[in-house]
Amino acid sequence: MSIQPEISPQPVEERPEPAEGPIVLVGAPGSGKSTVGALLAERLDVAFHDVDAVIVERSGKSIADIFVEDGEPAFRALEARTTAELLRRPGVLSLGGGAVLSPTTRAALRDHRVIWLKVGLAQSVKRVGLDTARPLLLGNVRSQLRKLLDERAALYREVGTEVIDTDDTTPADIVEMIMNAHVSQR
Ligand code: S3P
Repeated sequence: MSIQPEISPQPVEERPEPAEGPIVLVGAPGSGKSTVGALLAERLDVAFHDVDAVIVERSGKSIADIFVEDGEPAFRALEARTTAELLRRPGVLSLGGGAVLSPTTRAALRDHRVIWLKVGLAQSVKRVGLDTARPLLLGNVRSQLRKLLDERAALYREVGTEVIDTDDTTPADIVEMIMNAHVSQR
């Protein structure tokens, strides 16, 4: 498992200092964004925000209810607005798996250190399980995840300044990898 900054379309060194905004975690459902984000923030002693959690807290509705009652386009608009707002706060920020679908969000991410937590289909299915809280995965979880991973890989690659393969790596080890890269950039 390694951090492979060479896939970045824009070298990390050319980006602004991470202190200007949060370190951002992106990746598909089951990639560990929320778990790793919380651990990383604790380790760095900074604030942690998770876009989905903020949306749920503010709306008083689950993500699944927002999808059903308001529709996916309404969720995506809310997600893009919430992401834009939270990108202005320092700390660590975990995005929803589909946040990269928004061209506006992808453009906003160009100014940030963005870590793509990459997950393969088998691990993603295993970690997500039959979790019905994820409305996009209702029905055949495996085939939905396969489609989603195929469709989004290029978008995660586009926004990521680093990629970490999470399949055989624990959240604690991922935090160490991020910390080491963080130190070596300074
Ligand atoms: C989504 C992923 C979910 C959540 C929503 C849509 C997606 O977040 O934002 O259900 O499009 O992949 P997680 O990546 O935390 O599961």
